[in-house]
Amino acid sequence: RTETDQTSATVTDLKYRINVNDFAHEAAKSLEMNEVGICNISTRTPIAFDPFAENRTTGAFILIDRISNATVGAGMILHSLRRAENIHWQSLDVGKRVRADMKNQRPAVFWFTGLSGSGKSTIANLFEKKLFATGRHTYILDGDNVRHGLNRDLGFTDADRVENIRRVAEVARLMADAGLIVIVSFISPFSAERRMARELMADGEFVEVFVDTPFEECARRDPKGLYARALNGEIKNFTGVDSPYEAPETPEIHLQTLGKSAEEIVDALEHWLNERDIA
Ligand code: ADX
Repeated sequence: RTETDQTSATVTDLKYRINVNDFAHEAAKSLEMNEVGICNISTRTPIAFDPFAENRTTGAFILIDRISNATVGAGMILHSLRRAENIHWQSLDVGKRVRADMKNQRPAVFWFTGLSGSGKSTIANLFEKKLFATGRHTYILDGDNVRHGLNRDLGFTDADRVENIRRVAEVARLMADAGLIVIVSFISPFSAERRMARELMADGEFVEVFVDTPFEECARRDPKGLYARALNGEIKNFTGVDSPYEAPETPEIHLQTLGKSAEEIVDALEHWLNERDIA
């Protein structure tokens, strides 16, 4: 946030760290507490500012962690990147509305969140099959699959998970803009990131689906053998073991899966969509 504004921001590139003793420029991937560096920042929305050299009040900012709400950095703005000034939003004549109308549907983003092994992919797969059978145009974005391509450079630290979700949310938005019904199936353990994804979509388009299977049951099923390895300490930052999962408090759809068949669960999802479409 600056003196006058607040927006969501990402440090896109750390150029270098400055050694505070001799002002040397040092290569660095991240900054630790009290370290100083030069970086590029990309903001979600434009902000009003002045270069710090011209105005100390409107040229300064702080960075607040989306998850913990703690202030994690303070900075001075040198200048805007010409890049930002030169990229305009290109308005196109064939819009979301006509693309969706042609498919005879209203776009939606069904955002499945839940522990690994909770059944997200199984449910997403069957849901898509049912939608397909009723003539809907759909696409599934699945964590395991997207991590093989677009997000192959990301791991499972908090920072990487945040970036994982940011990218997939942007892709889901483009797909909804193309008129599709998108099913996103990612653990997406942090509420702040799911909120960010929600805010990207048009009103009413983001449908948070909590695939609620207790940890013990996921660990018992352990379809990929990952829980056994995580509980042994062989995999670090495993969700539910040594990395947190923040359950949604007010999801649009809460699926308690214990004792239910995938068929029953998917019927509930289809019912929800049909109700929305006639409302
Ligand atoms: S997310 O947290 O960033 O949303 P995502 O859904 O993309 O996770 O990927 C989760 C999948 O990666 C899991 O289903 C599991 O197969 C695999 N995986 C590998 N390492 C981990 C880990 N440390 N924590 C959670 N899942 C992991």
